[in-house]
Amino acid sequence: MIAVDGPAGSGKSTAARGVARALGLRYLDTGSTYRALTWWLLSRGADISDAGVVAASAGGPVIEVGTDPDAPAIRVDGTDVASQIRTREVSNAVSAVAAVPEVRRSLVAMQQRIIADVLAAGDGIVAEGRDIGTVVAPDAPVKVFLTASEVVRARRRTADLAADEAATVAVTRAEQAQRDRYDAPQMARAADAVEIDTTDLDLDEVISEIVALADGAGPGGRPAQTPRLRKAGAWST
Ligand code: DC
Repeated sequence: MIAVDGPAGSGKSTAARGVARALGLRYLDTGSTYRALTWWLLSRGADISDAGVVAASAGGPVIEVGTDPDAPAIRVDGTDVASQIRTREVSNAVSAVAAVPEVRRSLVAMQQRIIADVLAAGDGIVAEGRDIGTVVAPDAPVKVFLTASEVVRARRRTADLAADEAATVAVTRAEQAQRDRYDAPQMARAADAVEIDTTDLDLDEVISEIVALADGAGPGGRPAQTPRLRKAGAWST
């Protein structure tokens, strides 16, 4: 089990997926579960600034998240929402939803069940988010905390937006600063996490560093044999 935490735009999703592919592990994007619930609330016209309304939604929709690093599926009440949860509207609303304790309790429990099922089946998993190493999987044998400069994070996220949502780096940066403030209480670097600053690293370098950490961690961290790395491609968050 490998825990990957870090702020928006630090490259954790792309890196975590690349590590999972390189090592033949499952992959869990915990942010997608918060995004899915946010999409569901927005699609019903709910007032997400009302914490009571958001708290009451925690057990509402059936959220299913897949663990295939090549096709990370996310469904809400049976509907595939993989692209809908990446819109700017959802991105700018999700922090408020993720800050509600009832939501966190419900989604953390779901994430822990998914990880437990994968481990019980004898597989390994890379889980990424904000609180994996501290709350979701505090016993993970490998913990990584990714950082990157504010402007590089904004550039990566801007490049990631769909063409019809084109935003300048300046706009993304302002939205990111707002999200950072909202997300701050949820994000914690575990004392035993290794911090990797990805500002000047390319994706393959980050993946290699995490793979090396997992190799050093032994069987619990994952496999004995040295994996052959696939060229992972470009950053996207
Ligand atoms: O990583 P992301 O941008 O997809 O995360 C979406 C939101 O969910 C973001 O506001 C932080 C929040 N989040 C969280 O609070 N805890 C997690 N484990 C993962 C994401």
